[in-house]
Amino acid sequence: MFKVGFIGCGGIANAHARALSSLSNRAQMVAFCDIEEERARWFSQNYTGGKAKVFTDYREMFDKVDIDIVYISLPPYAHKDEVDIAAEKGIHIFIEKPIALDMETANRMVQAVEKNKVKSQVGFMFRFGEAIETLERLLCNYGPVGLMMGRYMCNSLHSPWWRDKTKSGGQVVEQIIHIFDLIRHFMGEPKLVFTKMNNLFHKDIPDYTVEDVSGTVIMFQNGGIATVSATNGAIPGKWITQVDLIAKGLTASMPDANHASIYLTSNPWESKMEIASSKDIYLAETIDLLDAIEQDRPTRVPMIEGAKSLQLVLSAARSAEENKPVEL
Ligand SMILES: NC(=O)c1ccc[n+]([C@@H]2O[C@H](COP(=O)([O-])OP(=O)(O)OC[C@H]3O[C@@H](n4cnc5c(N)ncnc54)[C@H](O)[C@@H]3O)[C@@H](O)[C@H]2O)c1
Repeated sequence: MFKVGFIGCGGIANAHARALSSLSNRAQMVAFCDIEEERARWFSQNYTGGKAKVFTDYREMFDKVDIDIVYISLPPYAHKDEVDIAAEKGIHIFIEKPIALDMETANRMVQAVEKNKVKSQVGFMFRFGEAIETLERLLCNYGPVGLMMGRYMCNSLHSPWWRDKTKSGGQVVEQIIHIFDLIRHFMGEPKLVFTKMNNLFHKDIPDYTVEDVSGTVIMFQNGGIATVSATNGAIPGKWITQVDLIAKGLTASMPDANHASIYLTSNPWESKMEIASSKDIYLAETIDLLDAIEQDRPTRVPMIEGAKSLQLVLSAARSAEENKPVEL
């Protein structure tokens, strides 16, 4: 039975606690840490009937409780040395994206998990979608991927830290990183990125310093190209994450990670496949982590993937700031 601790008991931590609750034969939540004690206490009460210990300082949690896995769901600006401490203690790590706001911290996290040989999983849950996995399998026989087009549209004020660019990194870094990560996953390593971004819709909102419209072009080492458009000014209550992929012999259109229309295009006749699934992608990323620990194999999204996708979005943000393409 894995003993699990949490650092950060906010919105997304609920998805992970729910997933772990459904795996109570394999994992037990034993400690919750949040700088706001009430939040940690609420998690303990709600998910363990008050049995799990409550902390406001993760160092104290690591010192006082025997933990096998830690779930880190901190706002991007709040990452300090929690990964280093956990890895040194041999504790496996689940960490939400973006794993940091600078490459020095991100690279340190990669070194810490690799040196101490602990498993790590970064919260790019879209990679676990049925449509994404089907496409991955099909692409063994088709390719190369020449073009990807990603769109992310929402309209929400989010939390105060999200609206503050110094704390979240901006919409591209904090949120659209999911789309950039999928593109990297299918197209390999990027060589150049050019981004434009602006705050057009939220100028009157005090302390709203992140962009709400952005457009990015990415060039890949194999000559492939991707574009990503994003906004926080679209339809309230709707979160649209459309991704299209064109490979030699295959075109796919994905309204989300569990749905796709896939066309095999090397035939003269139309050959179409529809994927529609209700797979729980948050549960799937946790199951993969537990399996990886038990089987002593790599997870599907180890820390290095978090660092590489972070480098891409940080380069996009820098490109927008400097108004010129950035080479990676
Ligand atoms: N994968 C996804 O679908 C998804 C969705 C939402 C958020 N996220 C990511 O998860 C992370 C958290 O986002 P959220 O929406 O849950 O934020 P949130 O603000 O709801 O929760 C963050 C929690 O961390 C706590 N906290 C801050 N500093 C701390 C510290 N030093 N020690 C302990 N606790 C501390 C806060 O008090 C808060 O309770 C972000 O990186 C975000 O990008 C991922």
